[in-house]
Amino acid sequence: MKMSSATVIDTILYLILIVSLLYFIESLISHKLHINHNKIHLKRSPDLPLRFRDDGTFKILQVADMHYGMGTITRCRDVSDAEFEYCSDLNTTRFLRRMIEAERPDLIAFTGDNIFGSSTTDAAESLLEAIGPAIEYRIPWAAILGNHDQESTLNRQELMTFLSLMDYSVSQINPLVEENKGAMRLIDGFGNYRVRVHGAPGSVMSNSTVFDLFFLDSGDREIVQGRRTYGWIKESQLLWLQDSYKQEYNQRLRGNPPALAFFHIPIPEVRDLWFTPFIGQFQEGVACSIVQSGVLETFVSMGNVKAAFIGHDHVNDFCGNLKGVWFCYGGGFGYHAYGRPKWHRRARVIEAKLGKGRDTWTGIELIKTWKRLDDKDLSKKDEQVLWETSDTFLK
Ligand SMILES: *[C@@H]1O[C@H](CO)[C@@H](O)[C@H](O)[C@H]1NC(C)=O
Ligand SMILES: *[C@@H]1O[C@H](CO)[C@@H](O)[C@H](O)[C@H]1NC(C)=O
Repeated sequence: MKMSSATVIDTILYLILIVSLLYFIESLISHKLHINHNKIHLKRSPDLPLRFRDDGTFKILQVADMHYGMGTITRCRDVSDAEFEYCSDLNTTRFLRRMIEAERPDLIAFTGDNIFGSSTTDAAESLLEAIGPAIEYRIPWAAILGNHDQESTLNRQELMTFLSLMDYSVSQINPLVEENKGAMRLIDGFGNYRVRVHGAPGSVMSNSTVFDLFFLDSGDREIVQGRRTYGWIKESQLLWLQDSYKQEYNQRLRGNPPALAFFHIPIPEVRDLWFTPFIGQFQEGVACSIVQSGVLETFVSMGNVKAAFIGHDHVNDFCGNLKGVWFCYGGGFGYHAYGRPKWHRRARVIEAKLGKGRDTWTGIELIKTWKRLDDKDLSKKDEQVLWETSDTFLK
């Protein structure tokens, strides 16, 4: 069939009209069609299980109480008048980057009040910025909640869900606890989980847990018999802790891998440390719950919990020993958190070292801790041994 040139022109004009109309309609409603212009983002997971390094060490950076708000517009608290003008959340970010550069940790533990809910209008955005440097440096990290994280747009369950989905996070919401007959039991709080660390690659312990890290939710606030008080670690959480441990290690206390615990709010017994030779500074009252739920007894009965790392009281940064378990404050990290002018923001580092067997790395031989201040030189302070194995053949 042969078309006249007039028909061809008509057809072309007609097509142009249709295309223009479609284009016009698309431009009117496109914002409703596009959910997201970016590619779908899948979580980038760290290499799991976590492992000791080839040199037999594993280092954890504890970041306590960042109190992150909205970045540049969130001002610093309790800095000197001269510093106030040029100080914001970005100083917290800068301190985190400096700590990462200086210590190159294998894991970062964010021990709550990561964000200061009432200073942000978007909890997710604030968390992304606060945790940002860990992700930037691709360092595995674990977070738990404090008492301020949920004071914005996400509740505690949503926060832990979000934290568990962020890049390089090893955070989890809660364990699945199986009761007899296959029924699932719920445990209190959000953010109760265990992170296992395996031995050095190529060593006899490379497929075994040599270091157990327990993260616990100490809650926010509660009313007990009409009195307002802080949250605490509940019986259901302690039962989970003991059960998961007993099942695996069958109460074979000797030879079990050492463990550390991380949570936000101190337990009431931390007050008693005032009367002991603690290491570091004890400058404010211990703000804890009026409920004593048996956390210390649980740790003692487990036998392997060597130290617990807490936050909440920003100008306390000491370690003290209760019945063989060290309780260490991280010391306030964030610039939007209360602190003291001229008392530097600080962070705690924990380092575990493996013992050297005849020709291979074995289990942990030594656990140490120290702090660094956010001063010119990131001054190192109060280095101390938290635990040493009594297995003399390792020495
Ligand atoms: C905050 O950061 C700015 C610029 O990065 C710096 O000049 C200032 O001294 C910092 N303030 C404090 C209190 O560290
Ligand atoms: C650890 O597991 C890997 C993979 O299953 C295996 O090749 C290796 O021999 C194991 N190492 C030890 C020390 O058991």
